[in-house]
Amino acid sequence: MQDTPTTGARADAIEFLTAQHRDVEQLWKHLEVAHRDADIELEQDLGRRIIAMLSQHDALETMILYPVLRGLDGGDFLADHALEEHREIRELLAEVDGKDLEDEREFRTLARAMDLVQGHVEEEEGTLFPALRAVGQERLYEMGDAMEKAMHVVPTHPHPSTPDSGIGAALMGTVAGVVDRARDALAHARH
Ligand SMILES: [Fe+2]
Ligand SMILES: [Fe+2]
Repeated sequence: MQDTPTTGARADAIEFLTAQHRDVEQLWKHLEVAHRDADIELEQDLGRRIIAMLSQHDALETMILYPVLRGLDGGDFLADHALEEHREIRELLAEVDGKDLEDEREFRTLARAMDLVQGHVEEEEGTLFPALRAVGQERLYEMGDAMEKAMHVVPTHPHPSTPDSGIGAALMGTVAGVVDRARDALAHARH
């Protein structure tokens, strides 16, 4: 679950992130069943995997997706709004991280986070990802490659106060290069 969710073929950034959206939705569906069945061990395992995957996803989008979006017309508004939603979700996940989900209060907190995730994912897939296509297919592949590499080093727990902790300087350099090229492509497309 902590490796690339794709089938081994090279995934562009949109495919990569969309696959993670579907993976998290699946895990949550299973968790709701486990909660109903009081299968405590399974529920706990699924909760840990959901929190890890959302924490990784949060870091990938924060480092790679949203900085590129800022190169689009109106991109700052989209990125700021998305990051605000990430922050809300991250805070809820930090509250339940490591807690017993059989406790109804903790489960409700995770359910609230998943509600926010669902709305956020709809906006991303409906608005942000289509807009992102303006960078061109090759840049989308480069961003996807950077995301796949970054998956191995990004945090697997929510860090509300220090969202970039645990991300190596060398990786940040690689990511910055990819982000710069994608933003250049957007600037070029406008002229
Ligand atoms: Fe997002
Ligand atoms: Fe996302």
